[in-house]
Amino acid sequence: MLAVGPNGVGKTNLLEALHVATQGFSPRTRTDAQLVRFGDPGARVAVRGRRGEVTLDLEVTVEPGAGKRAKLNGAPLRAAEQLRSEAATLVFTPDRLGVVKGAPAARRAYFDRALGRLAPARAALPAEYGAAVAQRNAALRRAAGGWSSRDAIAPWTEQVATLGAELVTARVETLAALEPHFAERAGELGLLGGALRYEGEPPTREALEQRLDRDLERGATSLGPHLDDVVLASGDRELRSFGSQGEQRLAVLALLLAEAELIAERRGVPPLLLLDDVLSELDPERRRILAARVSGAGQALVTATDAAMLPADPDQLLEVSPGRAA
Ligand SMILES: Nc1ncnc2c1ncn2[C@@H]1O[C@H](COP(=O)(O)OP(=O)(O)OP(=O)(O)O)[C@@H](O)[C@H]1O
Ligand SMILES: [Mg+2]
Repeated sequence: MLAVGPNGVGKTNLLEALHVATQGFSPRTRTDAQLVRFGDPGARVAVRGRRGEVTLDLEVTVEPGAGKRAKLNGAPLRAAEQLRSEAATLVFTPDRLGVVKGAPAARRAYFDRALGRLAPARAALPAEYGAAVAQRNAALRRAAGGWSSRDAIAPWTEQVATLGAELVTARVETLAALEPHFAERAGELGLLGGALRYEGEPPTREALEQRLDRDLERGATSLGPHLDDVVLASGDRELRSFGSQGEQRLAVLALLLAEAELIAERRGVPPLLLLDDVLSELDPERRRILAARVSGAGQALVTATDAAMLPADPDQLLEVSPGRAA
């Protein structure tokens, strides 16, 4: 489906509403109150759709102060975020370029979310590891301040080593699963030799202990996957530093398409694709390749300011005007 309309009419708003309804949170902000129309007491989005052959009725309500509630086929869920295990949605917004050109933290966050989507049983691992690092850092500062002994750090060092090694393994496995699909989709879009490399080693207790003096001085753990990075490359070119704007966009799209294929393989149903402003900056040939790939990939919503930007006939064309889409 293609949603078109001039700047500021509400295309991104519509796409965001679909994300909130299917995943329980916004891809743009963690502050749910921002989802409510200025001056209104709350917001509600209700969506009826299909997941394979199954019909789903999803509803999310946000009331600042009272919080967020979600229903699946009429039954309330414990947390809106539970929708994530019911429906898979992948989103491209121009902000996503940060995955390629941003700081390592943006890549870690992105690949950790991908890890959660592709291996739901390990979805909590990044947060558990993060909590262990925070506890160890607090223990380091207490010991450095003389409020507790150095021995009190050891259990947290152990936790950081154990959970850190698990997290590195999970990330490396996620990248290994994504990489062949990424290379294929990137190649099709003209980025040859697409590769994903993990930069970092599993932290060991010994290596952490060797750095204990330095860590005590800094009050922070200086080794582990909270400092690692992922390199996205085309051949021997690192795209973060040497990719053009358009190439960086293609790399993000190739990653998204790669993950969509893996989700389709693993869950048996392709994810919903939400592609905001994806066509700008791409040349006509690449738009054509992307359009063909997206139309064969399940359900998708693409936004553009002009229908002529999509070099294919969409199954459905929505004209967006303020407060309306028809
Ligand atoms: N909480 C809010 N309440 C009311 N209006 C809002 C709120 N947040 C944003 N807006 C406004 O909604 C309008 C529609 O924004 P939206 O980002 O959906 O436009 P768009 O069609 O995607 O435009 P573009 O083509 O420039 O990307 C904007 O004018 C924006 O300022
Ligand atoms: Mg927009």
